[in-house]
Amino acid sequence: MTKVIITGAKGRMGAVLLTCAARIPQIEVVAKIGSGDDISSVIDKCDVVIDFSYHDATPKFAEICARHNKALVVGTTGHDAAQKTQVTALKSKIPIVWSSNYSTGVNTLFWLTRKATEILGPDFDLEVVEMHHRLKKDAPSGTAQTLVEILADVRKQELAKVIRHGREGLVGARTPTEIGLHSLRGGDVVGDHTVVFANIGERVELTHKASSRETFANGALRAAQWVVGKAPGLYDMQDVLGLK
Ligand SMILES: NC(=O)c1ccc[n+]([C@@H]2O[C@H](COP(=O)([O-])OP(=O)(O)OC[C@H]3O[C@@H](n4cnc5c(N)ncnc54)[C@H](OP(=O)(O)O)[C@@H]3O)[C@@H](O)[C@H]2O)c1
Repeated sequence: MTKVIITGAKGRMGAVLLTCAARIPQIEVVAKIGSGDDISSVIDKCDVVIDFSYHDATPKFAEICARHNKALVVGTTGHDAAQKTQVTALKSKIPIVWSSNYSTGVNTLFWLTRKATEILGPDFDLEVVEMHHRLKKDAPSGTAQTLVEILADVRKQELAKVIRHGREGLVGARTPTEIGLHSLRGGDVVGDHTVVFANIGERVELTHKASSRETFANGALRAAQWVVGKAPGLYDMQDVLGLK
């Protein structure tokens, strides 16, 4: 039995995590933490904390996990560099799974994006387009950020120097090295991501569309079961799925 605490439990993802967890006999939710709740008083009841709250809250949850020797699954996105450093520094103390997207399909997209970039080579222009529901607070999505990191990594580019967030005005011709990233917001879209590889005469597009948050919730619950008992370190969903 894996005992979990869910943070952000009253949010959209929190509600779906609770529904999906109830269907898995090997998982027991021992506490639900919302804004203003005190996780310190319940942390000892759990094996692992699943965080789908807000980027400002993740470092505090991670520190409490480290102090009490509990594993952590981070689903929250939108962290700044300092918050990321604060959390990842704890990898020497506890096992942490951190993935911008817990769906199996998106992790397949990550794998395919790496392969396609390697195969198609430097002549193809790279653009990523994402769309999410109108209430999403951060942009670009964490998943889109992971996709552009993969593109830059394969091309051995420094992402900060080549990223192009949208275009407006007389921006001139596209440079061969830039990586475009564009965020659309509207309606109730759960999460669409397309990677465009465009060359003269042909174009390849890899697209994933999520139509239910259950895909993220089930992946995060799978990660929670996987991470308990692992050595301290930083893992991602590719580790959980055995794709590495
Ligand atoms: N990795 C993935 O696969 C994946 C998939 C989907 C979403 N996400 C990410 O997961 C996060 C949550 O998404 P969502 O759509 O569920 O957002 P949401 O509906 O806004 O829910 C977030 C919840 O977190 C709560 N919260 C904020 N600060 C908190 C704190 N300090 N302690 C405890 N709870 C706190 C909020 O409560 P209040 O409203 O009362 O502040 C809210 O109930 C976002 O960062 C989103 O991008 C990741």
